[in-house]
Amino acid sequence: MLLQIHQVLTRDEVENLLARSADAAFVDGANTAGPRARRVKNNLQMPLGQQSAAELGRLVLGALGRSGVFQSAALPRRISPPLFNRYSEGMQYGNHIDNAIMGQPDTLRADVSGTLFLSEPASYDGGELVIEDSYGFHSVKLQAGNLILYPSSSLHRVEPVTRGVRNAVVFWVQSAVRDAAKRHLLFDMDLSIQRLNATVPDNPAIGNLTACYSNLLRMWADV
Ligand code: NI
Repeated sequence: MLLQIHQVLTRDEVENLLARSADAAFVDGANTAGPRARRVKNNLQMPLGQQSAAELGRLVLGALGRSGVFQSAALPRRISPPLFNRYSEGMQYGNHIDNAIMGQPDTLRADVSGTLFLSEPASYDGGELVIEDSYGFHSVKLQAGNLILYPSSSLHRVEPVTRGVRNAVVFWVQSAVRDAAKRHLLFDMDLSIQRLNATVPDNPAIGNLTACYSNLLRMWADV
């Protein structure tokens, strides 16, 4: 499932993150890529060991924590430290699949990948995130503060930036529900329950549906 979530970050948060990351040191992103991805990866990243990376990362994790749509769609058990990256003119990240296991010393299995856009799309050309799924390729370039979630198992790339600078944050989620089809089903069910709660809150069937949701989650979740 590809899912866009709007305004995960407020405008103030985007501006704050951009201003503070502008002062931080960025290094060659190939340092954190696997041997295969390293051949196609040409971007800059803020090293995770840097204090500012941890502080800015906490802000992103806070925003993810308050996003009900993110929580419902990803059912996160663990989230990697958010990684700030930057593509200047001529930079790109060719086709690759994200590592299955990542992070040291706190390892996680990457089920869901997230890209949170920080630069306004009009401020740069190129830099689309292109994701392949069973329906073909999808080109994604979102407003600053918006998030795209996609399966970590999917082939994807970042197109060359031909003007300006593309700033983004990437992170990976180990979901409590490993199977993407089951996760999708739970998400659809949760959305429907929320819609019913908003329109016919007194209907007693909502209670039954909510119980079904909880019991499916209990059956499928690893915590
Ligand atoms: Ni990737």
